[in-house]
Amino acid sequence: MIYTIGGIKGGSGKTTIAVSLTVLLANKGRKVLLVDADKQGTATDFSQWRTESVGDTGFTSIQLSDIQVRNEVQKLKADYDDIVIDAGGRDTASQRAALVVSDVFLAPFAPKSFDIWTLEQVEELLNEMQIANPNLKAYAILNKVDNNQKDIEEAKQYIEESKVLKVLNSCLHERKVFANASAAGYAVTEYTPRNYKAISELSALFLEILELEEKNREAA
Ligand SMILES: Nc1ncnc2c1ncn2[C@@H]1O[C@H](COP(=O)(O)OP(=O)(O)OP(=O)(O)O)[C@@H](O)[C@H]1O
Ligand SMILES: [Mg+2]
Repeated sequence: MIYTIGGIKGGSGKTTIAVSLTVLLANKGRKVLLVDADKQGTATDFSQWRTESVGDTGFTSIQLSDIQVRNEVQKLKADYDDIVIDAGGRDTASQRAALVVSDVFLAPFAPKSFDIWTLEQVEELLNEMQIANPNLKAYAILNKVDNNQKDIEEAKQYIEESKVLKVLNSCLHERKVFANASAAGYAVTEYTPRNYKAISELSALFLEILELEEKNREAA
């Protein structure tokens, strides 16, 4: 399965979700390639921090940009069970190249900073990319949510109205442990001191994604 984590807005949690998904899949025994397609190189930094903290990261990590994202991923996909692409937060050639070869697009949105303009840009991008890649499935993840249920519901409604993105039921609360774990090279599921709320919401999110993908495969 090829996953692209992207969108249009900076700081929504793309890299956090990309590296967490990579680690969770690798810890399930899958052979995973993490592609850093964002010139900021944060996913690559994560791999370096992980090498320092655990030694063998458990996955392979590379950096690609522009059309090479499509070309190299196409060549490499037979060698991996899963490929996770961190596409960064702008409508770049890299993100478009990633979406041509992906099965799943995951777009995190932070409800507090939610703006309709961002959603329109993502909608436009997806409409174009689904012409090139009709099998592309697109999901929105509400990240950095707080306990303001009204903000969450409003963001969900806006996104669902756009029709191109399905909002996942599981969301991630704003919790410092996500930043602490990433900075130490870990997913929160591995990090100590254990934060059971963060572990359970991250596990629920990925279970939901994997189950949806299984259903899509069965339906295909
Ligand atoms: N659920 C969360 N709770 C608290 N902090 C979070 C959460 N998700 C992400 N963060 C933090 O927010 C910051 C931005 O997250 P991240 O780097 O994953 O976003 P990004 O979308 O990849 O940003 P960019 O657009 O710069 O690539 C980081 O410091 C990260 O640790
Ligand atoms: Mg990033």
